[in-house]
Amino acid sequence: MQVTGREKWGSYGGFLFAAIGSAVGVGNIWRFPYVAGENGGGAFLGIYLVVVFTFGLSFMVLEFTLGRYYQTSVIVALQKIRKRFAWAGAAMVAVTFGVLSYYMAILGWILSYFAMYATGMAVSFEEYSQSWYPLLSFAVIAAVNYLIVRTGVRSGIEKVSKYGILLFVGIMVPLTAIGLTLPGAGEGVTFYLTPDATVFSDPQVWAAAFGQAFFSLSIGMGVLLTYGSYLGQKRPVVSSSLVIIGADLAVSFVAGLMIFSFVFSNDANPAEGTTLVFKVLPQVFSTIELGAVIAPLFFVLLLLAGITSSISMFQLPVSALEDSLGFSRRKAASIIGIAAFVAGLPSALSYSTVDLRVNGAAVLDVVNDALGDYGLPIVGAVFAIVATWFLDKKILTEQVNLYSRVKVPAGLISVARVAVPLLIVVTLLTQLVG
Ligand code: PHE
Repeated sequence: MQVTGREKWGSYGGFLFAAIGSAVGVGNIWRFPYVAGENGGGAFLGIYLVVVFTFGLSFMVLEFTLGRYYQTSVIVALQKIRKRFAWAGAAMVAVTFGVLSYYMAILGWILSYFAMYATGMAVSFEEYSQSWYPLLSFAVIAAVNYLIVRTGVRSGIEKVSKYGILLFVGIMVPLTAIGLTLPGAGEGVTFYLTPDATVFSDPQVWAAAFGQAFFSLSIGMGVLLTYGSYLGQKRPVVSSSLVIIGADLAVSFVAGLMIFSFVFSNDANPAEGTTLVFKVLPQVFSTIELGAVIAPLFFVLLLLAGITSSISMFQLPVSALEDSLGFSRRKAASIIGIAAFVAGLPSALSYSTVDLRVNGAAVLDVVNDALGDYGLPIVGAVFAIVATWFLDKKILTEQVNLYSRVKVPAGLISVARVAVPLLIVVTLLTQLVG
């Protein structure tokens, strides 16, 4: 199904960079290490590998396949399967929009931290969040996202992702090397990688691995479907997915080495959770030699990872407005930019003087938990069911293997049709019970 006139990636490599940019994000550097640390260290890594190469791979292949086949964004694609499934697409857009709004709020903090360390004017998290800077930097982040997406898939998203990821690797490698040479780093690595075999039979740990895979691989929201819709060239989805997953895994693994080296070099608490990056690491940086150089570099690293992810989320509602309502890219980007800024304000202000709370918890954490634990798996499950049960199985098998040298047998697709939605539902239930 080829639609002329739709924008296309400039090159296949550019597409891979954009997708890796989407996958590699704050989730790899900030979330993965502490989730692994809390869930059995080296054993979690084993579980995570299994989850990523079975469930993660199937889901990613599914999204890219639908995007490439229908050449349109998520609402119209699901509508083409059955008219009534437009609502499922709309729910995916809504969840993505919600995640985008708080993800940009976090990026705002990261931007401020970078600015504070680069100018040598770092203050504590409390002092910072009581100021107007969270608001200012959130606005800057929203504007930057808007500008990149408005510029277009090829000259905006693709270019920024490519240079962003290259620069990211160029900073991450030396930072990790420095971290590993710090005194105490060895204990950090031991903590990170020593397997706790009891977790293999713990459903909560498997659920955590599913949650992390969803978030880190950018699957379940239609973001990769949207990126796949700009694949005009005859490109294989299975091998592309393997490359993207491999890159994302490698970054997560190395991020764990980096974070735990830093944390243990200062005897800090590795299980600090959400505020690890904003409270614990700054403490570490203030005590180590070269800290004044490492700190701004670390926050640039997070910023690069985060922006190449947020633009992929931003592009999804923009493309939905373009394809469903016929809006121009500029108009769609303006609307989403303003709307996401307004929607993200409560998150951005959640630790500020305004101190927005729901039942005692900061708004940002509430939104993060609600969307991450429930919103995402629910829309993901619905998508998987619609795509695998209602799209003709012959078409699905043919499309998955199209342009690919390695063919996936039809039997495996039948397994995935049942297993993928089932796994999401089981994960959700596990979370509910936990
Ligand atoms: N994968 C990104 C991260 O790890 C987050 C993300 C999720 C981006 C879903 C796009 C879609 O930070």
